[in-house]
Amino acid sequence: MHQPQGVVALHTPSLSLSLSKLRRTTSHSHSNSITMLHAPPTHPKWSLQGMTALVTGGTRGIGHAIVEELVGFGARVHTCARNEAELTKSLIQWNDSGFDVTGSVCDVSVPHQREKLMDSVCSQFQGKLNILINNVGTNIRKPMTELTTAEISRLMDTNLGSTFHICQLAYPLLKASGIASVVFVSSVSGFVSLKSMSVQGATKGAINQLTRNLACEWAKDNIRSNAVAPWYIKTSMVEKVLSNKEYVEEVYSRTPLGRLGDPAEVSSVVAFLCLPASSYITGQIICVDGGMTVNGFYPTHT
Ligand SMILES: NC(=O)c1ccc[n+]([C@@H]2O[C@H](COP(=O)([O-])OP(=O)(O)OC[C@H]3O[C@@H](n4cnc5c(N)ncnc54)[C@H](OP(=O)(O)O)[C@@H]3O)[C@@H](O)[C@H]2O)c1
Repeated sequence: MHQPQGVVALHTPSLSLSLSKLRRTTSHSHSNSITMLHAPPTHPKWSLQGMTALVTGGTRGIGHAIVEELVGFGARVHTCARNEAELTKSLIQWNDSGFDVTGSVCDVSVPHQREKLMDSVCSQFQGKLNILINNVGTNIRKPMTELTTAEISRLMDTNLGSTFHICQLAYPLLKASGIASVVFVSSVSGFVSLKSMSVQGATKGAINQLTRNLACEWAKDNIRSNAVAPWYIKTSMVEKVLSNKEYVEEVYSRTPLGRLGDPAEVSSVVAFLCLPASSYITGQIICVDGGMTVNGFYPTHT
């Protein structure tokens, strides 16, 4: 099979085939004996069958969960990450499970690497992309006055500049697909103030507005644009801060649901925003936050 340059492709037709066989087995026999990520899609509005997707940053955390969620609904997925060994490991695991996932080593904060990534996606999916998930984002926790110019640029380039440019590069492919969805992984920091996150919050606030702008600008091309805004989700990005017990207790007390989120609780919302089931939703930012952003004042003493 022809592979575009720079694409790590470990899927084989036989493995993909075995998954579809599994799907057919479960749907026809209604057996519960095979554990699947999802029940087999039964209605076209709850299916991504035949659709193509790019998920940036798919080897860990929220991006990893999104890859698996989209594949579970029937999409073919391409992902990327900087660490080649981790990417290869993920691709092997996915392909061992029969998932149709390919990947590229790419640092999305570097313009020419983004261009190369989109060239690979274009070849991989014959010029048509139905789903673009802008998931990559980073954080540097510091008081505003202590951030260096280089750190500010790194945050702006990784979180906002790269996302903006990837949208520009993806536009012809999204348009060519005839029915497309862009989903941004924003943050509650784009809505409310969080300690030592002034630049990160500004980039996520900008992504929220970009979500609304693209919804209006690209509606004529049948491209929807939405975002999810998570609060604390258990991933490698927040491992260090969440290793502090007192800090976590404060997070719980600020969160009406009283717990952290799981990557799969974000990926399911992302998948919904890509499914035909959400076809009249565009320009929305959905907080996946256990109620954190609507929390008011509930004194415990009365
Ligand atoms: N976790 C939370 O509590 C939380 C809360 C609100 C919002 N978010 C947002 O959710 C998104 C995902 O966060 P996460 O917590 O899942 O992060 P994570 O666990 O650190 O995973 C990040 C993923 O993105 C890849 N990545 C990072 N920088 C990259 C780059 N420059 N180019 C290409 N790939 C890159 C990583 O692989 P490599 O390192 O190999 O590149 C990895 O696969 C981010 O936008 C973040 O702001 C997270």
